[in-house]
Parts: sequence; structure tokens; C-alpha cells
Amino acid sequence: MGQSSSTEQGASPELREVQSLVASTGALPSLQKSFPLLSDPQTQSIPLPSLRVWLLLRRQLPLARILGAQRRIHVLRLIDETEESLFRTGKFGRFGGIFVPETLVTCLRMLLSEFNLCMHDPHFQRSSQNQQRPRSGHARQAHGLAKCGGRATGAGQHGVATAAACAKLALKCSIIMGHLDMERQSSNVLLMKHLGAEVKSVQGTLKDATSEAIRKWVGDLERKYYLAGTAVGPHPCPAMVREFQSIIGKETRRQSIQKWGGKPDVLVACVGTDSNALGMFHEFVRDEEVRLIGVEAAGTSIDGETHSATLAKGEIGVYHVAMTLLLQDHEGQIVGPHSVGVGLEYPGVSPELSFLREIGRAEFHTATDEEALDVYALLCRLEDICPALEAAHALAHLGKLCPTLPDGAKVVVNCSGHGDKDIETVFKYQQLKSGKVSDGNNHPKPLQM
Ligand SMILES: Cc1ncc(COP(=O)(O)O)c(C=O)c1O
Repeated sequence: MGQSSSTEQGASPELREVQSLVASTGALPSLQKSFPLLSDPQTQSIPLPSLRVWLLLRRQLPLARILGAQRRIHVLRLIDETEESLFRTGKFGRFGGIFVPETLVTCLRMLLSEFNLCMHDPHFQRSSQNQQRPRSGHARQAHGLAKCGGRATGAGQHGVATAAACAKLALKCSIIMGHLDMERQSSNVLLMKHLGAEVKSVQGTLKDATSEAIRKWVGDLERKYYLAGTAVGPHPCPAMVREFQSIIGKETRRQSIQKWGGKPDVLVACVGTDSNALGMFHEFVRDEEVRLIGVEAAGTSIDGETHSATLAKGEIGVYHVAMTLLLQDHEGQIVGPHSVGVGLEYPGVSPELSFLREIGRAEFHTATDEEALDVYALLCRLEDICPALEAAHALAHLGKLCPTLPDGAKVVVNCSGHGDKDIETVFKYQQLKSGKVSDGNNHPKPLQM
């Protein structure tokens, strides 16, 4: 705080921390949100850093609120700092970054500068907001795609989107999928092929497809482009995915204001690698009163190794060239994830979500395969909505969440995809459950169908 005073000296360690946080933060707009007092015309002119701000807060607010505010200031400050460094280093606290060999740095720098240009280009912004339509013919976007789209996909949703974009831009497109995922998501595979894409299989699931897509890109930087649909990979890939998916959060805000006259109270989204959750959460990160809830796949049980609950069970490490939370064994080797929601089957999670968990801005829960499958059927029957099994994890959490909320709470769940692709899986599960068919070994789990 610079100045020393008897007030400062007499304060408890907690209060002194608040003092120094107030003093050190340059984020006046954030503080104004946290402390309406600072928006008061009389107090707004108080310069920061200033001891008077602290004295004002101390006089006006009970201690408990100040201590609660301490955490909020801390969180907001971290978010502001992170926002600043994001476009330079892709760091979210200790997560993220670019763990690549030097030969790739130039290429990623070029991508970053093109991305930054797009983000500041009003024409790009207008057209991307306009239903996120790809801008055919525009030099900058074409730069990214003008070679060959190489895309890894799990459930195939991102693959279908990429195939559609490449079809529109007349680009060659190759989609890489794990052989298990190709079997489980065969309708999306067909769709990609109809859109003109080549679909290549690799042994395994999404993580193996991602590794292969990165390998292909690294092997031919001049002609190939790694198109990240999920918020993983080297910076700026996760940041790009987040920005382009943020339409979900913006639309959520717009519709909430239209329908409810204000913000929602709670946002819920499933978490695979994170693109749909972050797409919705990012817009509301600074709205502290809005709860952000991510739901991971507990698979058959969160206690064994047949789940994809990275945020619940993961530890920090580097995978697919970024630092994040990962499912790993005691030697640091990746543990294969499991979920009936194929798109949730990834052993990591985006650096940004790892960060939001670490600073306590978002909370995370899990739903099992069974809970998701049951909710799928329930929603079809009750609402005539057939959710993707990934989204069904988020919806499954409502059963636990809603009884804890006050009447009239406004909850938005991101239904991240349609469940047509999962019809066969659900049908087989229901047959198993009703005892009409057996899986042959007398235990129906894990549900690798
Ligand atoms: C319908 C659907 N929802 C959610 C996900 C999970 O991915 P993410 O966490 O990146 O949104 C996927 C991934 O393929 C998906 O297909």
C-alpha cells in the first residue's frame, strides 16, 4: 500500500491482506462490481491505490463481508491478470503455455498474430457473431484453413462441423478418429463422409486421435493445419476455441435478459475437454453471483479407473503440449479415460478450466454412465428433447442441484449436442437393464457399447 499508518499496523493479518489486495489491484472496474460503494459518484473519484478506499470499506461493511470480499477481489484480480497474459503466453496461472520444440514456435506465433488480428477486426467479429458463419473468401480466415484441415474428434460433432466448413470453402479435409469412437458414433462418421471429408481411424479414442492429428501437423507445417475443436493443444488453440465458442455464453446472456430480465443464477455444462463449458462460462466469469458448474463423467465409478473425471481426480502435468490437470498414474503415465459419453473421454481438460477450479471460480461435480443414460431416456419422454450423452451428464446433475436451490432460481444447462448419434448405445443399455440381453459376462459395466 505504500503508506504506513496506525490503522494498517493495528489490523489483523487477514485485514492487512485485504488492504494490500485493494491497494495492489489496478482493476477498478472489477472492484466497482464487487463493491457498489465504489460506484457511488462521491467515492468514485478516490484514486487507487489509496488507504481511503480501505477505510471506507472498513467503516461501511461488516467484517464477514470484507473477508468474503477478500476472496472475491483475489479471484477477480487473478482473472484480470490472466486475461492480460493470455494473448501473450496462453498461461492461466500455472496452467497452459506452449510446451513445443523450437521448430514449432514460429508457426504458432504466426497463428497467434493472425488470431489477434481477427479478434480486433470488426468485420470478422460481425460475421462470426452472425451465426458464426465461416467467412469464405476472407484472407485472414482463409490463411488458417487454406491448406488442409486436420482435425481430431471424439464424438464426431467437431468433425462434422469441420467437414461442413471445409465443404463450404472447398478445402480438403481429413478427420482423425479413434477406431472405438468410429464404431460408437457411426452416424457422425457417415455425415462427415457425406460432407466430403476423409475419415481416418487410429487405434484408440480421442486422446490417440489428437496425438495423431498433432503428429500429422508437425510433420508437414507448410501444408497442414491442426484444427482444434476442443480447448486443448498449444496456445493459441485453446484460446481460439474459447473465443469462437463464446457465442454460447453471449447468447445465454441475451436470452436470459430477454426472458428473465437479468442474468441466470446457475450455469451447468458437461466437461470433456471443455469447449462447450468454457464457451458458456467465459462470458460470466466476472459475474461472481452466477454459479458456474461443470459436470464430469464418473463413468462406472469415480473411485476406479473407469471414469473421465480429470478435475476431480487429475494431477498437474503436460499433455498435448500444454500444462493442465491430467488423469495419470504414479509414474506420470496417462490413464485411459472412460465414459459412455464418447466426447467426454479425454484424460485432460483445458488449462483455463483447471485454473477456474484452482481459484475456486467454478465448481465441479460428476455424473455416472448410468445417470446420464437414464436422464437421456427421461428427457426424451418428458420434454421431447433427445440430448447427446455428453450433455446428459450435465442434465443428470440437475437432480442433485435443484433441491438445493431457492424457489425461482434461474438455471441454464448447456445441451451441447443432439442425441441422435447415441440412439444405439442407449437402446443397448436399456436392453441390458431390462435383462432382455446379456453382455455375456454377467456384468454390464463398463458400458463400452
Ligand atoms: C455433444 C458433445 N458435447 C460435449 C462434448 C465434450 O467436449 P467439450 O468438453 O470440449 O465441450 C463433445 C465432444 O465431442 C460432444 O460431442
